[in-house]
Parts: sequence; structure tokens; C-alpha cells
Amino acid sequence: MAENGLQAAIAKMQQAEIGASAIESFTFYYRQLQDGKVGTIREEDIEPLTGVPVLRDIEVDEAAAKDALAKTVIIKLNGGLGTSMGLDGPKSLLHVRDGLTFLDISVRQVLAARKQYDVKLPIIFMHSFATRKPCLDALSEYPELTVDGLPIDFEQSSEPKLDADDLSPVSWPADPSLEWCPPGHGDIYPSLRDSGVLDQLIEGGYRYAAVSNVDNLGARPDARLAGWFASSGAEFACEVCRRTSNDRKGGHLAVRRSDQHIILRESAQTHEEDLQYFSDENRHAMFNSNNLWLDLAALRERLNERHGVLGLPLIKNTKTVDPTDPSSPKVIQIETAMGAAIEIFKKSTVVEIDRDRFVPVKKTNELLILRSDCYNLDDSYHLVANAKAPKVDLDPDYYQLIQDFDARFPKPLHLSRASALSVKGDVSFGENVEIIGDVKIEAPKPTKIPDKEVIEENR
Ligand code: UTP
Repeated sequence: MAENGLQAAIAKMQQAEIGASAIESFTFYYRQLQDGKVGTIREEDIEPLTGVPVLRDIEVDEAAAKDALAKTVIIKLNGGLGTSMGLDGPKSLLHVRDGLTFLDISVRQVLAARKQYDVKLPIIFMHSFATRKPCLDALSEYPELTVDGLPIDFEQSSEPKLDADDLSPVSWPADPSLEWCPPGHGDIYPSLRDSGVLDQLIEGGYRYAAVSNVDNLGARPDARLAGWFASSGAEFACEVCRRTSNDRKGGHLAVRRSDQHIILRESAQTHEEDLQYFSDENRHAMFNSNNLWLDLAALRERLNERHGVLGLPLIKNTKTVDPTDPSSPKVIQIETAMGAAIEIFKKSTVVEIDRDRFVPVKKTNELLILRSDCYNLDDSYHLVANAKAPKVDLDPDYYQLIQDFDARFPKPLHLSRASALSVKGDVSFGENVEIIGDVKIEAPKPTKIPDKEVIEENR
């Protein structure tokens, strides 16, 4: 049955004119799914990664840094929908601060870096079918973005969602667009190839790509990093952060004993007997920020050797065909993650960055902090932290979905003097409300906090 399912899925992709590398990749991962291959990486087969160079301490020659940045392209992953916040449009169009969206700030960071370093620095967005149109509409405000006739975006591929029972492409006549999904950000590799953008960049004289999530505004263009990557001679690099007790769940970097290659291990790839080691932030001290550096020529070579299929670890994502309707049929989405390519490249490396290059927004609590006075945007559109971000815990019943959150926090909070904020119940906040210290709010019935209220630590 599953073999028929694969044939039907391929036929559906061909009919939709999906690119050749994307279909090859889908077929590769579908077979892994069929064979139940969701690989585990045992603790005895890896060693902790040590001796990671720290960006802050590395000496980079200024001229070499500028030279490397002149050969760099910025690629922003902008195909996801932010489903964790209940979005069905691009997360990058959410307002962040000063009337600007993630998209605006990413673009303005690049325009400022072009001026500062006198480099062309193209920026190219990877869109999905669901994010492309609205984002291109928004980007039309920046006609100066185009460089040397290069495109400002390419569209990642899409693949059929699979019926969880028999792995055939699911059918959903009520809204056929929901029969498709983007295959995760690991799809950047085949999509760069299929779109022709990889060839165009190399022919245009660009050698390096700095790739990052559009929702991480910390990942601004950085000439020192470009200089470091160019001089490292590596084909692939991952910017890593030191784990704290709050970062125990995400994947970590390690070294494979058999060949001393750096790898990434996600929780789904961890054997249950090894979970204690997985979550020990002192043993496995580094996590992937998803800010990556690619040598474009090496990428093209690796892709060509493998007919467009890098062969990353499979991520099996089980959802419902209509993400907003939990009673709709269960589907499997085949996905891969971009950072896992660290194990594919012959010469890959890592560099430790400060936390200010890793400011992700996955949930509304992170958006609340980003909108607050804990941050400023400077003249180069860099996020500057004014204060240590407090720990924010919001009641999922009233704040998980962006519409609910925006309705209750219509204006930014003052959080720079807060150490923690926990809200339980339906509480709406007025303008210029300040939180000081460790504040817990519990409301048994809908409550409004008036404008200019100062709420101090519960004593
Ligand atoms: P995440 O995996 O965190 O997903 O993507 P997301 O869309 O932001 O949020 P959820 O999980 O749906 O709530 C990390 C980055 O990769 C991009 C996203 O746009 C984000 O910048 N991405 C993700 C793609 O470009 N394509 C994909 O298929 C998946």
C-alpha cells in the first residue's frame, strides 16, 4: 500500500511541477519513513564537543572581514507559518516594535550593513507557497533591495501531507491547499538547487551564505563572522550558544566517536536510556542557534554528488490535515532540519556566539519581551538589550494564540525592572503598565489593568 502511496505522492508532485531535487528528496525520506528509520544516536557513540572557539575572543583582520562580507549573501528562512502562535500567515509580518515587522527589521539590518561596510550584500528570502505573496507585497516597499539582478526570494518546495494510516497523499476537498505542506527548513538545500539561485549566486561571484530564521532578529549581518568563516576554510559552520538550565530540551552538538565529525543530536534522536545525558547542559554544553554559514561552491558539489539529496535525518511530524481542526484526519508531514547538514559536509565547524545573536520568537511570551522596554532598536536596526529579560509565563488559554495575546496586550509593557511575570486567567493590560520584580497575577474572572499601573513584586 505504502509503495502505491509513494507513487501517488510523486505523481501529485509532478503534476504540481515540483522541482526534481525536491521529488528525489521526498522519495528518499518517504522510504526512510516506510522503513521506520528515525535514527537514534547513542551516548556511547558520541563525545561532548569541547574547545569551541568563542567569537568574542577571535581576532579577525578588518580588511579580511570586509572582503568576506563582500562575497556573502544573507538568506532568511521565511517559509514557516508560526503555527505555535496560531498564525496562518507569515510570522515575519507580525509587528515587533517601532511599527516594524520581522521582515522590515531584517531588511533594514541588511541595508544598514551595506552602507556601513560598502558591500552589495544581497538578501534572499526562502518563502513557501503560503508566505510568498504577502511577503513579496510587503517587500515591494524596498525596491533598493535588488542587487545585480539577483532575485530577492525563491520558493521552497511543497510536498503532499500523508494519511497517517496508509501513507498515501491525503485528500481534503474542503480546502485542497491544506493537502500540501513545506518540508521543513532542511528543504533549503534542494530548493536552492532547483530554483537555480545557487548557480546564480556562484556565477555572480558570491561564495558564502549566512542563513538564519527570520524570527531571530539577533542574526544580523556580521563582518567579523564572515571573516572568521572565510579564514576557517570550512564548508559549513554553525553558530552555537552555551546551554543553560533553560535550554535542556533543544538539540545539542556533539562529536561522533567513529570519525570525530561534529553532529547535531535532537531529542527525537535520543534513546530513552540516554535522556539524562541529553539534558545535561554541563556535559553537552552547546546548542544550535540555526544561524549557519555555507560555502556555496561546496554545497553545490555535495548536492551534485548526491543528485540533490543531502540525506539529512528524517523528522516525522504528526499533525491534523486542518491544523485548526483537531478532529480532521491525522496526517504525517515529512520534514528535515537545515542544521543537521553539519554531519554531511566534509569540513564543518562551529563558533560560540553571545546570546544577543539568538533572540528567537516561537511563542507569545518571547514576543511580549521583544516588544517591551527590555530592548531598543539602534540606528543600524540591531536589537540592543537594555535589561536582562524576565522569565514570562502566560496562561495558554488566553495568550497562546496571537489574536488573544494582541487583544490583551495592545501596548508594550515596561518589563526592564521585572525579573519574572506569570499571568493566570483572563487579564487585559492598559497602556504604560510597569512590572517590577517577580510578579504573579491570578484572575478568577476577566480583569483589566488600568493605564500607567505599576505592579510590584507580590510580598
Ligand atoms: P520553525 O521550525 O521554528 O517554525 O522555523 P515556525 O514556522 O517559525 O513556527 P511553528 O513551529 O510553525 O510554530 C524556523 C524558521 O524556519 C522557517 C521559518 O519561517 C522560521 O524562520 N521555515 C520553517 C521555513 O522557511 N520552511 C519550513 O518548511 C519550515
